[in-house]
Amino acid sequence: MLTAGGGHAAVTAKDWGKTPDGKPVELYTLSDDELTVTITSFGAHVVSVEAPDRAGKKADVVLGYKDLAGYMAEKSAYLGAVVGRYGNRIAKGVFTLDGKSYQIPANNNGNALHGGTVGFDRKVWSTKPLVNGVELTYVSVDGEMGFPGTLTAHVKYTLEGRSLHIEYSATTDKDTVLNLTNHSYFNLAGESSGDILGEKIMINADRYTPVDAGLIPTGKLPSVKGTPFDFLKPTAIGARIEANDEQLKIAGGYDHNFVLNGGSTLHVAAKVEDPKSGRTLTVTTTEPGVQFYSGNFLTGSAIGIGGKPYEKHAGFCLETQHFPDSPNHPAFPSTELKPGQVMRSTTIFTFGTTK
Ligand code: GLA
Repeated sequence: MLTAGGGHAAVTAKDWGKTPDGKPVELYTLSDDELTVTITSFGAHVVSVEAPDRAGKKADVVLGYKDLAGYMAEKSAYLGAVVGRYGNRIAKGVFTLDGKSYQIPANNNGNALHGGTVGFDRKVWSTKPLVNGVELTYVSVDGEMGFPGTLTAHVKYTLEGRSLHIEYSATTDKDTVLNLTNHSYFNLAGESSGDILGEKIMINADRYTPVDAGLIPTGKLPSVKGTPFDFLKPTAIGARIEANDEQLKIAGGYDHNFVLNGGSTLHVAAKVEDPKSGRTLTVTTTEPGVQFYSGNFLTGSAIGIGGKPYEKHAGFCLETQHFPDSPNHPAFPSTELKPGQVMRSTTIFTFGTTK
C-alpha cells in the first residue's frame, strides 16, 4: 500500500504477524531521502530509525527487535514503546482524584511504572495511514489498570525531512490522569555498536527532580549547578556517571526527570552528538520535563534487531513527559484531564550531522 507522493515521505504498511490472542499486527515504513523509520501497531513502538552519518552512511540509531516475537518476549525495557496511561512512576501505584483513591498495579519495587502490569506498550493500536506518516489510536476503557475514565489516545508519527514528529492527543469521559511518552533508546553510532557513554549531551534544564530509593521524586527541584546533572554545556554521558553522587548511585547512572527551561510551547529539550559518526539528535517538545535514562537496567538479555545483545548503557532515552508521580505532587504541572478537554503534546526528534 503506497499512500503518499508529491515530495512527501513514502508510507507503506505490511502484516507483521499476530499476538498470541490472535490480533493482527502491522508494520509501517515511513521513508524520505533522509530517514527510514519503522513503526509497529503493537504498543506503537518505533522499531528502527535509519539516519545518515557525516559521510552519508546510514545506520539504525534506535534499539529495537527484529520481529513481533521480540516485542512479545520483552519484559521491562520498553524499547521504542509509547508508554501509558501514565509514563514513569506513581508512588505505591496510589493517587487521589476528586476525593477518590485509585490503585494501579505496583509493578516496579512497590511502585507503578509505565501504566502498571499491562500498559499501552502491550496493546495493539488501530492505525490510519497519513500522507507522510501514520496515526495510531488506542481506547483504554474505564478502570483498565485501575485508572478512571475511558481514555481515547492518538499518536501521530510523521516524517518531515530529517525530523520524526510525534503528536499525542487524548480525551476522556471521566476525570483522569495521564502521561504519554515515547521510550526510544538512541545510540547515534548505531544500535549494537557498544555503549553510549562517549556521546555528548546537552539538556536544557537548570533543575531536576531528585528521587528516593524507589526512584520516586522527593518533590524538591534543586539546581543542577555543581552536580553531575549539569548538562547545560554538552558533556559526555559517561564523563561523571561514576561520580560519588547519591542520586547516581540510587539509579545506577542517570534515570532522572529534568525540569526543562522553556514553558509549554515547543522548546529544545536536549541535543546529543556522537563525535565518531558525526550524527546528532535534537529533541524538541511541548512537555515540561524529560526523563534522561542511560540504559542502566539493560543486562544483555535482550537480543537486538541486528542479532547482538543490548548490554548496560547500549542506548539512552530522552522521554519527554510530565514529571513522575505528578498525581501525588500538587506543585508539579498537572497531569489531570477532564471530559471536554483535549490533551495535546508534541515531540520532534531531528537527526542531523556535524562536520
Ligand atoms: C524509565 C524508568 C527507568 C526504567 C526504564 C525502563 O526510563 O525511569 O527506571 O524503568 O523506564 O526499563
